[in-house]
Amino acid sequence: AAIQYGSTAPYGIEFHDTINSTNDRARELADAGNTGIAVVADEQTGGRGRLDRDWAAPAGGIYVSVAISPDLPPAQAPIVTLAAAVAVTDACRDVGADAHIKWPNDVLVPDPTAERGGTKLAGILTEMQGEADRVSWIVVGIGINANVDPDALPPGATSLRAATGDRIDRSRVTRTLLERFHELTAAPESVLPAWRDRAATIGRDVRVETTTGAVEGTAVDVEFPGALVLETDDGTETVLSGDCEHLRP
Ligand code: BTN
Repeated sequence: AAIQYGSTAPYGIEFHDTINSTNDRARELADAGNTGIAVVADEQTGGRGRLDRDWAAPAGGIYVSVAISPDLPPAQAPIVTLAAAVAVTDACRDVGADAHIKWPNDVLVPDPTAERGGTKLAGILTEMQGEADRVSWIVVGIGINANVDPDALPPGATSLRAATGDRIDRSRVTRTLLERFHELTAAPESVLPAWRDRAATIGRDVRVETTTGAVEGTAVDVEFPGALVLETDDGTETVLSGDCEHLRP
């Protein structure tokens, strides 16, 4: 395997040189009752992003999906995605990148002059299966542009290597990421304070596309289980999910 792990990884690891999508594989494992396993691949041929988008996943990136079965009602599942965003940010900072979170879970290097407020280092795709009152599993899929050439990425994206100028130790980033994710999900009350601390979105003028229309305003806070609080011309609005764009200053 190209990515080596120490004995401290909090999850079992299933490694693939190449795979369609680590999220699909983690879902398959979860459906069979196997949670607590991180599926890791060197490259993906059918990587999926949020909102039915494709996710470019060439060799050199970090592609990992973990299935967990937390004791949560489905409505609280977004807190797990926010935990993943904090874990990814810490893993990127650990190798020297100036990583911040764009709500809800994009990890970027802030750049006020860039489209959407920054250049994206990583994305998170969360999928869930649940009954009415309890989640049966949540798959958190994380893609980090580690040693990928930015020319191989869509506009607005960058890589850890480009952001830091150094070749990235993918094992180290993956290990930090999984350890932090494990710590944060074990202490859900620690997630929002950590998220706020790393946020690029709080204090920014934003536009959020939701299924019921667009909302514009100043982002003032994030609330459990992950809603964005906006001050708009019509007062305070809370948005639970959507596609967020940082407006230029
Ligand atoms: C996004 O920003 O749209 C989310 C991107 C999530 C990509 C990761 S890569 C590992 C996992 N497997 C997938 O097919 N998608 C996620």
